[in-house]
Amino acid sequence: MTRTDAADGAVRPSSSATEAQPEAVRFAALRDRFGVLINIALREYLRENLDSGQRAIDLGCAGGFMCEMLATKFDEVVGIDISPDLLDIARRDRSRTNITYELTDLLLVTPETHGHFDLVYSAYTLHHVPDLDAGLRAAKQLVRPGGTLMLVHLVGRRDGRPRGWYRRQALRNLVFDVLRRRRGLTEAWELYRINTHPLWLRHIMSQRHLSAEQFEGIVKSTYPSCEVIDMGRARMVVWRRPADDTTDE
Ligand SMILES: C[S@@+](CC[C@H](N)C(=O)[O-])C[C@H]1O[C@@H](n2cnc3c(N)ncnc32)[C@H](O)[C@@H]1O
Repeated sequence: MTRTDAADGAVRPSSSATEAQPEAVRFAALRDRFGVLINIALREYLRENLDSGQRAIDLGCAGGFMCEMLATKFDEVVGIDISPDLLDIARRDRSRTNITYELTDLLLVTPETHGHFDLVYSAYTLHHVPDLDAGLRAAKQLVRPGGTLMLVHLVGRRDGRPRGWYRRQALRNLVFDVLRRRRGLTEAWELYRINTHPLWLRHIMSQRHLSAEQFEGIVKSTYPSCEVIDMGRARMVVWRRPADDTTDE
């Protein structure tokens, strides 16, 4: 039995068949579904605000849900990730003729190996890279003159909380999702199940993030002219390389 056997495509974290899978595969399924469930507003924003173009790259594409959307706007999309399990999901569920998925560390992606892109996109990924500066520079050099970089980065307002706090937050979100009709009941329940799953709790409790001020300071040193948009628990960085800037950094 696979993740998509359920009629609604939802993850069933506690089913016995799912439990029998290796932990990395189970976590990849949770990661993928979580990304699909929580990125709705971001996807909507991109759909409305992104120009079409020739080439786009998603650094840390996970299960490919954003590549799938980018493939409707760009002739060619490259999805990069270091997780073979997430790339398996991407290739299985979000394969398109104009998307290439590649198992690579984003720090190894350069203009020499992959060329330049009209859009360099990366969401919730650079905090995994030990040297944020190096990650920011790696992304910058891929933007073609006149192209755009969009980065979404979590900032650390929730770090260091105990497990019970995350569980209570999950319950609170479930109640709000239902009462405020932010989601249907099935989807709200599925998100609650993911948010309280032991693998997920272990993952989020191990994360450490920069404060918004620290992140902004670092990002402005690589992208002095960027716009930083407050998205609550995250910041979106938008930077356009001037059309006459042909320097490769
Ligand atoms: C938190 S997930 C974000 C996934 C997706 N971008 C989203 O918006 O939900 C981070 C992703 O980055 C990948 N990743 C972490 N470090 C990476 C690296 N150095 N190079 C490429 N991918 C990386 C992970 O495997 C994971 O799929």
